[in-house]
Amino acid sequence: MILDVKKLEAGYGKLRVLDGISLSVGKESVGLFGPNGAGKTTIINAIMGIVKPWGGTIEFEGTRMEGMATHLVARAGIALVPQERELFPGMSVADNLELGAAWVPRGKPIMARQLETVLELFPILKERYRQYVGTMSGGQQRMVAIGRALMANPALLILDEPSLGLQPSIVAEVFDRLALLKKDISILVTEQNVRESLRAIDRGYVIENGAVVLEDTAAGLAVNPHVVSAYLGI
Ligand SMILES: Nc1ncnc2c1ncn2[C@@H]1O[C@H](COP(=O)(O)OP(=O)(O)OP(=O)(O)O)[C@@H](O)[C@H]1O
Ligand SMILES: [Mg+2]
Repeated sequence: MILDVKKLEAGYGKLRVLDGISLSVGKESVGLFGPNGAGKTTIINAIMGIVKPWGGTIEFEGTRMEGMATHLVARAGIALVPQERELFPGMSVADNLELGAAWVPRGKPIMARQLETVLELFPILKERYRQYVGTMSGGQQRMVAIGRALMANPALLILDEPSLGLQPSIVAEVFDRLALLKKDISILVTEQNVRESLRAIDRGYVIENGAVVLEDTAAGLAVNPHVVSAYLGI
């Protein structure tokens, strides 16, 4: 496994949010599903070192990571596309992408290669290369955010609700792009839009009240009665 999380506990002040979460990601794409407030972002923030775990272990490529500072987590090879976009609206697509690799040691050679990969994955970013990000559509900005995370050539890409606020046709496109990406890189993605994200994941976990209540392949989740009634609607 590339990422191995065991019995992770975390919370805020006296509020316990994660009640012993265990999950893993190999060379594959893994989904994290669950209702608002279930703890999905907290899991991701604990992995990224943004939230300090109360207990449990986080192992990435054989190294214990729990409690590690965020910049060191990034340096180890995990990139996050946060729930809030955090782009620089007054800067161009080119500059935003470049910043994604700015901190990488000997970043320049990686940058040229990764830039090619990103522009191939999202051709619209090539067309709009010099446009200010703040003037782009929500879907285009999401692509910039994903592209920027990829610029550091991470081994694991984590995306927190990539479909949030996007219109349906763009959601499908974003997941199609992620499906292409997963042959080269491991992916962990949280989503409310379970139906659309199933096309881009191999396996998934359902998180409710800070615990894993279900774990299955994408095909298994698609026909699971609880998933169908709670998350796929009809
Ligand atoms: N910084 C914080 N301070 C206090 N409580 C927080 C903080 N961040 C999250 N929480 C609480 O922790 C719980 C889990 O939140 P979290 O953001 O992890 O859920 P989520 O599954 O990502 O939800 P959503 O689908 O809405 O993004 C919620 O009850 C939330 O109110
Ligand atoms: Mg969240």
